[in-house]
Amino acid sequence: MAFDLIIRGGTLATAADVYKADIAIRDGRIVQIGLDLGEAARVIDASGKYVLPGGIDSHVHIAQASGDGIQMADDFASGTLSALFGGNTMVLPFCLPAKGQSLRAALQEYHNLAEGACYTDVSFHVIIPDTTDQILGQEIPALVADGYTSFKVFMTYEGLRLNDAQILATMDAAQGAGALIMVHCENEDVIRFLVDRAERNGDLVPAAHARTRPVSAEREATHRAMALAEVADVPVVIVHVSNREAMEEISRARARGSRVVGETCPQYLVLTADDLEAMDWSGAKFVCSPPPRTTADQEACWEGIRMGIFDLVSSDHCPFVYDDPKGKLNPKGRTSFRHVPNGIPGVETRLPILFSEGVSKGRIDLSRFVALTATNQAKTYGLYPRKGTIAIGSDADLTIWDPEAERIIRHADLHDGSDYSPYEGFAVTGWPVTVILRGTVMVENEQLCGAQGAGAYVSRGLPRIG
Ligand code: URP
Ligand code: ZN
Ligand code: ZN
Ligand code: ZN
Repeated sequence: MAFDLIIRGGTLATAADVYKADIAIRDGRIVQIGLDLGEAARVIDASGKYVLPGGIDSHVHIAQASGDGIQMADDFASGTLSALFGGNTMVLPFCLPAKGQSLRAALQEYHNLAEGACYTDVSFHVIIPDTTDQILGQEIPALVADGYTSFKVFMTYEGLRLNDAQILATMDAAQGAGALIMVHCENEDVIRFLVDRAERNGDLVPAAHARTRPVSAEREATHRAMALAEVADVPVVIVHVSNREAMEEISRARARGSRVVGETCPQYLVLTADDLEAMDWSGAKFVCSPPPRTTADQEACWEGIRMGIFDLVSSDHCPFVYDDPKGKLNPKGRTSFRHVPNGIPGVETRLPILFSEGVSKGRIDLSRFVALTATNQAKTYGLYPRKGTIAIGSDADLTIWDPEAERIIRHADLHDGSDYSPYEGFAVTGWPVTVILRGTVMVENEQLCGAQGAGAYVSRGLPRIG
């Protein structure tokens, strides 16, 4: 047999083109694209469907704990299974080293958790918890040489935030090694002031989370992060941008020639701060940082997607169980929003929500969808062209997408380890039906057929940022 697998009759979409062709796969890679490709051990009929590069979600949290020690609801098995069913073939979670721990030791522990557990390919970002000479002078350069080419710094979260001097020093170390920096942009001192005041005033409900993390705190930190990056001359990703003002800061920095990549997430496209208002504390289901904003900010985020201010739409999947003493409603979390762990699940619903609200409703075209969810993700994080496109020689990571399928999102149908979806009851048009990972059919007609452990760790090259 010439080929292991042919995908026949589908409409292929890349970030550049949409056209009808068949794809032939051998040894996990795409070896031919065309018509009448001949014989294969197996043929999958994709007529009436789109064939897309497998989704890459570069912003997910797996097997991590919150600042209060609340464990996330997903390990590598459930997190990557959920990603897979959502049409993804690769996710990039964050390794979070403890203060005082070497980055290398933390990575080894994280690798041990992932080993043999994954249903998609994975690669790791590293969070920088501290700026010792050892971390900046030795560890960052050595890790970049070993294919860990992205590091995240936090401007917020007590115990995790770095000050400007530390961020600048981290950026400088990354710049010297050719890596990029991801920044969580919110002004911690502003937030601390507002949270303390809200608690003094007895404003303790989940909705206060949104009131105490205002747009001004995000806008200011976004501007500051990009100014520091400009000084260090390092490429930055401004992650999970929620609103117009922060987006406009990015737009201005890009106009000045800064190497800035903007990321937004489905929660900023379809949720608002009103979702946190429920009086029975179920608003805790929507507590994430930055918080969802207004419908006007949703429209701004769509504008940023259309205008290319945002190159990435990622999930920021950060799952906690809700109704559980070890989850959102932990004993302290029931007394104040301050102790509700931040983050919401969404790795499985990212592609359907963006496709439905974006492509099906005519806000973006199919190639833009592919760029936002796969191609730009691969380019930004040093995976392109092995990942993120449909091309001869690329990994055969493919998602067969039914553009007509209508679904109502129900947590009961999802595969993550949480006990709710913030999108419960949300109607979508378009759904991933078959997912192929390096030539192995992992999901076929929405049924799991691949094995746990089929997903592998992928070492990365340097970022490609325009
Ligand atoms: O609320 C969020 N987004 N939690 C996840 C951690 C982060 O800041 O990305
Ligand atoms: Zn963040
Ligand atoms: Zn966040
Ligand atoms: Zn995050």
